[in-house]
Amino acid sequence: MKIAIGTDHGGFNLKPVLKEYLDKKGIEYKDFGCYGPESVDYNEYALAVSKAVASGEYDLGILICGTGIGMSIVANKVKGIRCGHCHDVFSARMTRLHNDANVLAFGERVIGPGLMIDIVEAFISTPFSGNERHERRVNKIKALEDENFVK
Ligand code: RB5
Repeated sequence: MKIAIGTDHGGFNLKPVLKEYLDKKGIEYKDFGCYGPESVDYNEYALAVSKAVASGEYDLGILICGTGIGMSIVANKVKGIRCGHCHDVFSARMTRLHNDANVLAFGERVIGPGLMIDIVEAFISTPFSGNERHERRVNKIKALEDENFVK
């Protein structure tokens, strides 16, 4: 599994904790920035990660900003991306099972490192259910993606 990760300054402090966890699990990842604590626009990091996942080069994406909201809004503008904005383990598991989410977003100003790890663990270890009704709904989401989405 290959994971694309990105943060803005609002999520910068959680990134080393996330990387340490992925390293320990032996999971391959690429850090798409940001690379310092200075104030930046979350948009470009959400876009870089989302495009990397949408292209198929990465299996999943993880985005952290202050709240996770800006990142998730941008990610969900990219064709092929279903970004779940999750601050609890149940939602992280369900967004994989039911929505086949391929990007996870959350906020460093909302959760701490311990909960983050549990959320990430649930997200990356849960497969899409493949259930017919959930697949139908995901396909209806895909059908909404038109030429105006970022490719
Ligand atoms: C940055 O101050 C903050 O607005 C950003 O990290 C994020 O929370 C936006 O949704």
